[in-house]
Order: sequence, then C-alpha cells, then structure tokens
Amino acid sequence: SEALPQGYKIRSLRRTDYNTGFLDCLRVLTTVGDISQSQWEEQYDWFKQRDGSYYMLVVEDDKDQVVGCGTLVVERKFIHNLGIVGHIEDIAVSKDQQGKKLGLRIIQALDYIAEKVGCYKSILDCSEANEGFYVKCGFRRAGLEMAHYY
Ligand code: ACO
Repeated sequence: SEALPQGYKIRSLRRTDYNTGFLDCLRVLTTVGDISQSQWEEQYDWFKQRDGSYYMLVVEDDKDQVVGCGTLVVERKFIHNLGIVGHIEDIAVSKDQQGKKLGLRIIQALDYIAEKVGCYKSILDCSEANEGFYVKCGFRRAGLEMAHYY
C-alpha cells in the first residue's frame, strides 16, 4: 500500500517541534546532545532562511508524536548544466515504530521533492546494515564514502 498507518501524517518540521519527539527520534540515529529550546529555535530559523535548500520532514503518529524524520539537502552545481543533486540525510524511525514502512514513506516523500525541484539524482551515505533498506527504497550502491573528521 502507498499509505501511512491510520491517523499518521507526514509533514514539514515546525518551529514548535522542540517538544513533540523530534529530537528523541533522532537519538535512534546518533548522539544529539542537550539542545535548549532557544538553541533549537535559532537553528530552526537558520534552516527556514534556507527554504529551498533544506527540506525536513517528520512523520507524526495518531497521538501527534514525531516518530520518524528525514532531511533532503538540495545542492546546486555548475557541472551537468547547472545540475542539482539531492542529499538524503538523517533518516530515523523510533525503535518501537520501525517495520511499519515509515522509513520507506519518508524516503518516497523526499525523493518526490528532489525530483520536483529538479535534482538529477539523490545520494546518501549509510552503513552496510542499512543497505537492504535503501535498496528497497530504489537506491543502489554507487561509489565509496570517505570522511575527514576535525
Ligand atoms: N536491512 C534490510 N532491509 C530493511 C532494513 C535493513 N536494515 N530495514 C528495513 N528494511 C526493509 C523492511 O523489511 C521493508 O521491506 P519490505 O517492503 O519487504 O517489507 C523495507 O525495508 C521498508 O522498511 P521500513 O518499514 O520502511 O523501515 P523502517 O521504518 O523501520 O525504517 C530505518 C528503516 C530508517 C533504517 C530505521 O530502521 C531506523 O531508523 N534505523 C536507525 C537509524 C538509522 O540507521 N537510520 C539510517 C541512517 S542512514 C541516513 O540517514 C542517510
């Protein structure tokens, strides 16, 4: 099916999501740290000023709690005739909500936006353990990730 579970919604992140479970949802992915509400709002406003470059989606359950999230970063280029590349980042589904196709729906929604804004491809980095999930979402292995930590 192409639908979310009954009562679930997918929507853009809001400035009022400090207390709706978004940060806890991200904690299934990695360390988030202690972010105060004012820091949250400052960061949210930074993203908001870059509308068109950052698309942050959340899935809300039937109790209005955020249980899934994902980001699309839109990168404009000179190459490929001023090509645009989508970067899929920070996909997370709360532990007790995994396996309900929420992750798939988030990727489908971000893919839809990427194609609509003119991306010729979307790319992402993931662990080997998540390869099967992204294959089911229509991605395939391409290239190799490298990192330089500071
Ligand atoms: N390996 C293989 N297949 C998988 C995996 C996996 N790790 N996870 C899900 N699948 C399959 C499901 O079985 C399902 O297959 P089906 O259609 O045959 O039934 C399909 O992929 C879709 O799965 P969903 O139910 O949509 O997956 P879920 O909602 O649980 O979300 C996710 C998957 C996002 C990886 C989730 O498990 C999660 O949050 N994990 C912890 C955080 C994380 O690792 N995030 C990804 C980091 S990479 C990045 O952000 C770019």
